[in-house]
This record gives sequence, C-alpha cells and structure tokens, in this order.
Amino acid sequence: MQRRKVGILGATGMVGQRFIQLIENHPWFEISWLAASDRSSGKLYGEAAKWKLDTALPERIARMTVSPAVPEGAPKIIFAALDADIAREMEPAFAAAGCAVVSNSSAFRMHPDVPLVIPEVNADHLPLIEEQSWRKASGGYIVTNPNCCAIGLVLALKPIEERFGISAIFVSTMQAVSGAGYPGVASLDILGNVVPYIKNEEEKLQEETLKLLGRWNGRAVDPLEAKLSAHCNRVAVEDGHMECVSLQLRTKASREELLDAWRDFTPLRGQGLPSAPEQPVEFVAADDRPQPRLDKMRGNGMASTVGRLRPCGLLDWKFTVLSHNTIRGAAGAAILNAEILASLGKLDPAIPADANEPAALAAALA
Ligand SMILES: NC(=O)c1ccc[n+]([C@@H]2O[C@H](COP(=O)([O-])OP(=O)(O)OC[C@H]3O[C@@H](n4cnc5c(N)ncnc54)[C@H](OP(=O)(O)O)[C@@H]3O)[C@@H](O)[C@H]2O)c1
Repeated sequence: MQRRKVGILGATGMVGQRFIQLIENHPWFEISWLAASDRSSGKLYGEAAKWKLDTALPERIARMTVSPAVPEGAPKIIFAALDADIAREMEPAFAAAGCAVVSNSSAFRMHPDVPLVIPEVNADHLPLIEEQSWRKASGGYIVTNPNCCAIGLVLALKPIEERFGISAIFVSTMQAVSGAGYPGVASLDILGNVVPYIKNEEEKLQEETLKLLGRWNGRAVDPLEAKLSAHCNRVAVEDGHMECVSLQLRTKASREELLDAWRDFTPLRGQGLPSAPEQPVEFVAADDRPQPRLDKMRGNGMASTVGRLRPCGLLDWKFTVLSHNTIRGAAGAAILNAEILASLGKLDPAIPADANEPAALAAALA
C-alpha cells in the first residue's frame, strides 16, 4: 500500500518528537512536512530541535527543512502538537484549508462538534466531524485525543462502565515531568519534590472523562452522568503518569468480574490497526506494580496498566493505573485516531460531506 503523506505541526516539541519516532517507520503514513514556530522555520530539523528521545533522530528527518506553520504547501493529513493557545488559532486554519487535523491539544476537545476519541472507547463519536463547518465547506476537520491522564484512566474505566455502570470516580494523579513539554518544569522546582498543581489539569481530567464515556445520540454526545473529583500532582518521574482511582458502581461487582471485564476488553482486535495494542488494559497482579519505570512500555507504550485492585473504604473498589504520557497519552493516541479514520475512509483527500454522511458513518461504526 502506498503510504499517505502526513505533516507534523509543532514537530520540534516533546510530542512532535514522539510523532516522528512513531511515524517514521509506520506502514500507512510517511512524514513529508514538519512545521514549528518562527524560531525554527527555515532551519534544518536537526538544528532546530533538541532531540530528547532515546532512539536516534532519523537522518532523513534531520535533513528536512522546518516549514512555516501555514496550510499552503502542507499535506492534507496533519498531526498537531501545539500549545492550546496557538492551536486555537492555527488548527481551524488547517481544517478550513481541507486538512484532517488530528490534534493533541486541549483547544477543541470540549467543543460540541469536535470528537474527543479513544478508538477502543468511543469510536462511535467520530460522526461528529460531519457536523463541523470546516467539513461542510472544505472537507477538512479536527479530531482530538484526550489529556494524557484522561486516556489511561478512561481505558481502565470503560470496560467497568459498560458492564456495571459507574456513579462516582475519585482520582489522584502522579504525573511525569515530560507531560509539561520541554524544557517544562524547572529542575529546582521538581527534583526531590512534588508539585500539587498543574494548571487546568483537574478540570480537563474531569470534563474529558465524562465526554469520553458519554453516549452519541445521533447528533451530539451526552456526557456520562457520574460524580468525579480529581487531584493532579507533578512528580519527579521522566515518563509515565500514575493514577490512584476509587470507584462507586451502579451494580455491585466482584473482584473476578472486574478482572474479567478488563481482560475481555479488546474492541479493536482483528481490525488491523497497526498501533492498537493486543490488550488495551493489562492487569498486573504483583503488589508493588504498576511502576512507571517497569510498566510504561507495555503494549509498545499503548496499553493502560492496572494493578492493586482492592476494596475501597469510601467507594466500592480502588486500583492504580499507569500509562505512557507521550505515547498513549499523546502521539500514539493521535496516530491510532488517524488509523481508525483511515480504516473508515475518512483520511483521504478532502471531499465535502453530503447530508447523509453522519448516518452513513454511524452505520459503518455500528
Ligand atoms: N507532553 C505530553 O505528555 C503531552 C501529552 C498530551 C498532550 N500534550 C499537548 O500537546 C501539545 C504539545 O505539547 P509538548 O509537550 O510537545 O510542547 P512543547 O515541547 O513545548 O512543544 C511545542 C511545539 O509547538 C511549537 N510552537 C510554539 N509556538 C508556535 C507557533 N507560534 N507556531 C507554530 N508552532 C509553534 C514549538 O516550536 P519551536 O520549537 O519552534 O518553539 C514546538 O514544536 C500541548 O498542547 C500539550 O498540552 C502534551
């Protein structure tokens, strides 16, 4: 199969670098365009980026010139890794120019017409793209993946919500420093320390979780009706966000029933999406797991690892979740979104949608 040409907006940042690492040998996509701020544009990528990953920067990419961040000359599939304020301005310009914008940023995640998607959880929300004005005018659209904590949490919650219903969620996070981008948190603020505040993070985790677990009603998403309280903390860990979770269920469930729900949760199996993990939720039985250093790369960094399942003195059950924040929590999540869009025929050159599209896409996903 000929690989589709893709571009990366914000290519020099932490998430942009992950995109390059994960896409460079991707069977379906080929990087043909890299863009960043005016500080970087016009330079060779190898000079503009401070490469921070533990695999070598591919030679081909190092020699590419960083383009200005404008749609002219960009391919029609754009992976976006921009700060929210910049994304708010820039992503609509690309969507209006007919691009499929597969975004990591929070700028449009809660917009009523923008799908916020984890393919294993709520691919049935994708027909929302057909409601977007950009889609109707030029064929372009924006699809988003969630906040890096919401994604690991929601993967663990979905199989439980499906079988037993969830009425209350309490979550307290321990988030890695790479989640703040580069250079991110000053070393003197984080070494030997915990910072109990990450701007807007608790709000994002709360509202995104309820949208992700919400129901598509044929025109819009009705958020899950559940109480949710989040505490978000930054800790001195390089990669991997950990979350301590307590849940109240609508129907009582035993430990074995919860373990079965996680084990049986394989909604993408057999669909041939290259980045989909075999087992999206992996349970580890050892008392002292999951741990970021030991477990963050399960499922090639795409699995959500759960452990320490035990009764909760306040709600029904409690457990610990771990996910890789720049793979499953960012670039890998967006790539999996693009894969499912491609498998549905939605990544091909922009074609203005006809009026029946939402129903047709909903039927394809059913
Ligand atoms: N890090 C994570 O774990 C994580 C997880 C999930 C979501 N996200 C989200 O992903 C986005 C990117 O995060 P990050 O950690 O990669 O940030 P980052 O390391 O600070 O990178 C920001 C990128 O945006 C570019 N940029 C800045 N101003 C620009 C402008 N005016 N026009 C075009 N490009 C511009 C930068 O280019 P220059 O190098 O030229 O300045 C750089 O490539 C954020 O919205 C973040 O919230 C991050």
